[in-house]
Amino acid sequence: MENLSRRKVLTLGAALGIAGMAGTTGTAWAWSGKGSIAGSGTGADPFQVWDDTADAVAKALLAEGKVAAVNTAWESWIDNNAPLPAGLPDYLVAYLQQVNKLPSWADPAKLAASEKLYTRLSSYLFVSETLGSGIMSTVIPREARAVYWSAGGADMKQRAAKTFTFGYDLHNSKAWAPDGHFVVTANKTRLVHAAVRNLLPTSAKYQSGADQPKPISNGDILRTFHSVATFARSNMLKWNIALSSAEQEADLHAWQVALHLLGVQEQFIPQTWADAEAQAQQMLWPVLGPTEEGVSLAKTLLGYIENPTLGLDSGFVNELVRYLLNDQMGDWLGLPRDYAQAALVCLEWPAYVAFREGATKIMPGSFYLFDQFVRGISMLYLNNGTSPTQTPITLPAANRPG
Ligand code: HEM
Repeated sequence: MENLSRRKVLTLGAALGIAGMAGTTGTAWAWSGKGSIAGSGTGADPFQVWDDTADAVAKALLAEGKVAAVNTAWESWIDNNAPLPAGLPDYLVAYLQQVNKLPSWADPAKLAASEKLYTRLSSYLFVSETLGSGIMSTVIPREARAVYWSAGGADMKQRAAKTFTFGYDLHNSKAWAPDGHFVVTANKTRLVHAAVRNLLPTSAKYQSGADQPKPISNGDILRTFHSVATFARSNMLKWNIALSSAEQEADLHAWQVALHLLGVQEQFIPQTWADAEAQAQQMLWPVLGPTEEGVSLAKTLLGYIENPTLGLDSGFVNELVRYLLNDQMGDWLGLPRDYAQAALVCLEWPAYVAFREGATKIMPGSFYLFDQFVRGISMLYLNNGTSPTQTPITLPAANRPG
């Protein structure tokens, strides 16, 4: 399944230091910083920018063997307004004091509007983010390989649950409130990525196919943002869900702040949805493709969503993935066809959404099937499929074993 020729080209590009090639399939970075929240840019390629301060903190934690102690110390550090926990090394405290806060440009009214919007749309967002973005991440070659070869790749159920924690904390009615969780969750995630940037370059198996000196550049994070948020917005519009322009702005603003908290520079964060779409055209859609690692991850993830977790037929789930993504991605992942389920999904999902949104009084025949599915996905999201509590985000201390 592996796209060897593409990988060879990318590796060669990275080895030769061809600017922009590693991130954008051969074309130089051309998105203008004028479309960013900074209003201008240095012309830097985000695929050549990482997160130096966080990376240095993670490097010290790993070198000093402090990861386990930090994970224990910050387990109870959850609320946005909670003081930093005791027991963290001084340099981690100094770092967190700098970054664990909203940027000056965060707009409380827009953040509050995003909380309302996400509460209203949560079940659709969960569908878009689990079977859509979650599976799309397995055809983003760099992400699939990074996830597979990191420690979490060996236990995808737990890893998916941790990622749900991020989505759940963002799409929460009090995400940004003092007793909400998102600012802390985003900061923990930023440090997890910093740890991964230190760890993966020491994995021979990861390195054998790597096309960049360190994983998870600013560009890679933006690419994932598009596979989640830009994709979700286009799904909501496609499904005729009413979204006012103020709601769409609030959605983007929440993500702008989230990207800032994840360590992305302001010169790369899109200012409007039109800027975001232009960026996604350049950095996401052209690079999708299969890898051995991604195919394996998708199989594992879909296994959790089907029986026995939700009692769903695998034909239904596979066809819903194809409907949300497209047939090319479905083929890359080797998802078997089920044409009866394909017809059902294609005809009845829009009818289900229309009925739920009050756009029609005609209840589709498969209403209960879709309702069971949407409820199941929501429960999976809220309970992580296994426990009634959220799965805490922890720093990895090693790569995937073996
Ligand atoms: C870890 C979210 C981008 C690779 C995590 C975690 C979250 C998260 C919540 C912590 C949970 C966990 O440990 O599994 C995000 C978000 C992103 C993003 C919201 C962008 C909007 C990326 C990208 C890559 C990546 C671009 C790779 C190219 C990883 C890896 C881990 C991780 C390897 C660590 C898993 C482990 O512990 O072994 N991410 N991520 N992430 N992420 Fe990301």
